[in-house]
Amino acid sequence: MTARIIDGKAFAAKVRGQVAGQVTRLSEDHGLTPGLAVVLVGEDPASEVYVRNKGKQTVECGMASFEHKLDARTSEAELLALIAQLNADPAVHGILVQLPLPDHLNEDLVINAIAPEKDVDGFHISNVGLLATGQKAMVPCTPLGCLMMLREAHGNLSGLNAVVVGRSNIVGKPMAQLLLRDSCTVTLAHSRTRDIEALCRQADILVAAVGRPQMVTGDWVKPGATVIDVGINRIDAPEKGEGKTRLVGDVDFASAAAVAGAITPVPGGVGPMTIACLLANTLTACCRSHG
Ligand code: GUN
Repeated sequence: MTARIIDGKAFAAKVRGQVAGQVTRLSEDHGLTPGLAVVLVGEDPASEVYVRNKGKQTVECGMASFEHKLDARTSEAELLALIAQLNADPAVHGILVQLPLPDHLNEDLVINAIAPEKDVDGFHISNVGLLATGQKAMVPCTPLGCLMMLREAHGNLSGLNAVVVGRSNIVGKPMAQLLLRDSCTVTLAHSRTRDIEALCRQADILVAAVGRPQMVTGDWVKPGATVIDVGINRIDAPEKGEGKTRLVGDVDFASAAAVAGAITPVPGGVGPMTIACLLANTLTACCRSHG
């Protein structure tokens, strides 16, 4: 079997088009422009690329983008003061603080200082609790993008066996909550899970979010399963020339695609959906803020 490739790039373009259409209507009917503030502390090169892409796509969708780049030595008090200012700013509907933060800043404290209704990442403790109890929450963008692709691949997910590999707060745990909400039977596997290969082989839906390049190989995959690869890892690629690198996921694409029914590629799978969902969350936050 050769798996169907789930084209996250095309799907994300469709979602962005829908968001842009609604942004135009919001502007015409209500004179409102959704605004997203992104805060970056320090100079992590990967984070700088993400932040630039977020800003560009926000503007392309017709929304306002506010970028705040702070020095790596910014104090916690200074960062909290900026968040308080953004919380109070009526032009800002969504606030995202790019993670990871430098070591001297307490991530939990900073994230929980964001007004929950502006927390477009869905990381605030209130949104985590709302999601876990099945209430209306801001949902983290990466797992939300994965869920949208799974719904498109499968239609109804009810009763399917889902295994999520990786227990991070950003992806693994909220992914498990979302799959549970769609009535999957969910197992959250991690580095201490025993016989993880056999467990994964029982999954109709397999989500890999561990940050370990090509860890999930074809012999972990149930024939016909849908495989969602959240990993973005840069590895050496001597075949491309000396010092060259390439991006790979947490799944060994070639061997998994030979067994799976459908699979997301890296790049061009989950990645583009994450930003599309961030834009959708910002639109949602704007609409909710005006009743
Ligand atoms: N760093 C890596 N992924 C994310 C994300 O989804 N949101 C934020 N704020 N930081 C990240």
